[in-house]
Amino acid sequence: MSRKKIIAGNWKMNGTYEEAFKLTSEIVSMVKDEVKGYAEIILAPPFPFLTSVNKLTENSVIQVSAQNCASENSGAFTGEVSCAMIASCGATHVIIGHSERRTLFKEEDDVLLKKVKAALANNLKVIFCIGETKEQREKGIHFSVVEEQLKNTILRLSADDFRKCVIAYEPVWAIGTGLTASPAQAQEIHHHIRGLIASVFSDTIAQQCSILYGGSCNENNAAELFALQDVDGGLIGGASLKSRSFVTIIKAMKD
Ligand code: PGA
Repeated sequence: MSRKKIIAGNWKMNGTYEEAFKLTSEIVSMVKDEVKGYAEIILAPPFPFLTSVNKLTENSVIQVSAQNCASENSGAFTGEVSCAMIASCGATHVIIGHSERRTLFKEEDDVLLKKVKAALANNLKVIFCIGETKEQREKGIHFSVVEEQLKNTILRLSADDFRKCVIAYEPVWAIGTGLTASPAQAQEIHHHIRGLIASVFSDTIAQQCSILYGGSCNENNAAELFALQDVDGGLIGGASLKSRSFVTIIKAMKD
């Protein structure tokens, strides 16, 4: 069964307005010439650049995502950005549960589920991140760690809402470290995640769910990872900050 292939660039807290403008313009022109719509392409810039990146990508196949959102809809939450605000800037997606949010900002499953529900209520699609730490993998508990992360959050949604979520498996030990899961490790855990989805919802829903890999994915390893049966694309951090690298990764989905 064919699933949506997705390449998303997570810019994290990098770049100025000028740099965001330049990077987006370059990607838009390269994608126009070189990519023929075999994958969904998503850019996730920092909040202040959402509107501009959306305007620049308006006539292209590129969609825009926020990197985080508030769990509340509005009110006295200084510094927070609501899903309604994100949607009104033209974004279609939001990344929720990134390991940096979980670790550095202490976001736990209950608040992540609230964020997911807020996103869906505002018609945003969710890129939901899960993944184990180095210690957890060394202990051999990586399967149960990702199972818990999913069971406490998006596996509690209705089937209809779950279908609006994309999963990004990102082993924490691979994020920004230059270490990548081996193809065997990635396939094994993606397959396991799909089996879990099938057991909670149905085989059809599991087969339709896009599961992305993230963690030091780059021009050199993308093709091998994307060729795996249960890997449906990538959530790209560092390598998404250079237009040529990012577009090369997009093309690796096809080749
Ligand atoms: P990385 O980041 O590609 O720089 O490892 C991936 C991510 O954090 O989404």
